[in-house]
Amino acid sequence: MSPPAIETVSERPELLRIEGLQSGYGEVTVLWGIDLTVRQGDITALIGSNGAGKSTLMRTISALVRTRAGRLWWCGQPLDGEDPAQVLAHGIAHVPEGRRLFGAMSVEDNLIMGAYLRRASRAELHHDLERIYTLFPRLKERRTQAAGTMSGGEQQMCAIGRGLMSAPRLLMIDELSLGLSPLLVEQLVEALAVLNRDGLTLLVVEQDVVTALELSGNAYVMDTGRIVRQGASSELLRDPAVRQAYLGALAP
Ligand SMILES: Nc1ncnc2c1ncn2[C@@H]1O[C@H](COP(=O)(O)OP(=O)(O)OP(=O)(O)O)[C@@H](O)[C@H]1O
Ligand SMILES: [Mg+2]
Repeated sequence: MSPPAIETVSERPELLRIEGLQSGYGEVTVLWGIDLTVRQGDITALIGSNGAGKSTLMRTISALVRTRAGRLWWCGQPLDGEDPAQVLAHGIAHVPEGRRLFGAMSVEDNLIMGAYLRRASRAELHHDLERIYTLFPRLKERRTQAAGTMSGGEQQMCAIGRGLMSAPRLLMIDELSLGLSPLLVEQLVEALAVLNRDGLTLLVVEQDVVTALELSGNAYVMDTGRIVRQGASSELLRDPAVRQAYLGALAP
């Protein structure tokens, strides 16, 4: 039985559409034909075991890794031959695995770097900074601290804030909770829910499958460079194969 919510989701316009995507590194092919759609206003999760290709998929969307075959569309227009800056300018921001902050720079300067492609006025930047500080008050307290000296959780807030400063329509977050305490993960999930309610579309790679599937409305499961399952997150959470593969200890 499919709940009505799924029909509502499927009526939302497509923001990102990927068909038959292949990419890799050097001689090695990592993604073997990925089909994935992100709809406007959705939170979509990407799960799968280590080395499945989740980060490679995000890097390929961001044009950090070159597309070898297949196609991508953004708001119905082909994404073709763009470089990373152009992808960001389209409104696709990427919070990478490992956060990649400028460690010696202050929190606030890291945030402002996120806006480097925008032609935003000082007033707009100030407004957006304040919005991020409201979402993550800890960042405001630490605005002058060198980003590299902050805790893992604070750095993740800063990395997400930096992504938000580009005023994206789609925010991709790779490894949302890696190395963070359960309380902090809860706070981040709540912050993402607030952003999503305000209209931001999210694509999230999350190692913790329960967190991923509770946070998202729909999800894709990857294995060795392929999508092996997809659907409503609530259904995947009940799927015996998903439970067996990723929640071994919790399976009934
Ligand atoms: N820069 C690189 N050069 C060569 N091979 C790479 C590179 N980055 C990743 N790979 C390989 O691509 C495959 C997929 O890696 P990827 O990082 O995309 O997986 P993942 O699903 O994000 O894994 P994890 O959950 O561990 O982060 C792996 O076999 C990995 O060794
Ligand atoms: Mg990864």
